[in-house]
Amino acid sequence: MLVPEGIVIDGLSGAMAPHTGHYVKRLSDLEHVFRDEETVNATITRGGDAAVYEVVEYRKAESDLFFGTTIIHPGDVSGEFYMTRGHFHQRIDCGEVYYTQSGRGLLLLEDRAGETRTVEMLPGTCAFIPPNWAHRSINTGGDKLVFVWVCNPLAGHDYGTIAEHGMRKLVLREGDGYTLADNPAFQGHS
Ligand code: F6R
Ligand code: ZN
Repeated sequence: MLVPEGIVIDGLSGAMAPHTGHYVKRLSDLEHVFRDEETVNATITRGGDAAVYEVVEYRKAESDLFFGTTIIHPGDVSGEFYMTRGHFHQRIDCGEVYYTQSGRGLLLLEDRAGETRTVEMLPGTCAFIPPNWAHRSINTGGDKLVFVWVCNPLAGHDYGTIAEHGMRKLVLREGDGYTLADNPAFQGHS
C-alpha cells in the first residue's frame, strides 16, 4: 500500500532523504554527447573521468508520480558546458516540470518540427516542459545546478533520437555567460 511521506530535499546539494535510486554520469558515459570527443577521451586517459551529473530518484511502484533531483556539476569540455544527455519522452503525451533550487543553467528544448526554445534555470524558476519536446539541462554557472523534476513514471525515456542526431543548438561558454550556436553535426529528427 502507498502511504504519505515527507521527503527532505537539500536544494544546495540535491540530496533527498529518503530516496529510492541514485546514479552518476561521468565523462566516460557521455563520450558521444560532447562535440569534442577527442578532448573527452584525452581527459579520461589522464585520469580525469569527472562526474558530470547525478540523479536522485523517488519512485514508488503503483504511483502515478515520479520525482527526484538532478545535480549538474560545473565544468565544460572545450567550451561546451556540462549537461545532461537530453531526451524525448517515449510517451508523447507526457510533459514534465523542472523546479530549479540552486545554481544557474539553461533548459534547452526542441520539438520535432524544428523549433528550439530555452528557459533560464534560476532558483525559483519552475519550467514547464510540454509533451513531445526534447529537453536537456545545461549548467552555465560556476556552482552546482540543482533542480527538482516531477513526471509520470510511465513517460519513459527516448534517448536514441538525441543520441543519434544531437540537438539543433550547442550551448557554449562566452565570457561570463553563454551563447547558443548551431550544431554543425545536427542532421534532423524524424
Ligand atoms: C526525467 C527527466 C530528468 C532527467 C535527468 C537526467 O524525465 O527529464 O529526470 O532524466 O535530468 O537527464 P537525462 O535523462 O537526459 O540524462
Ligand atoms: Zn524528461
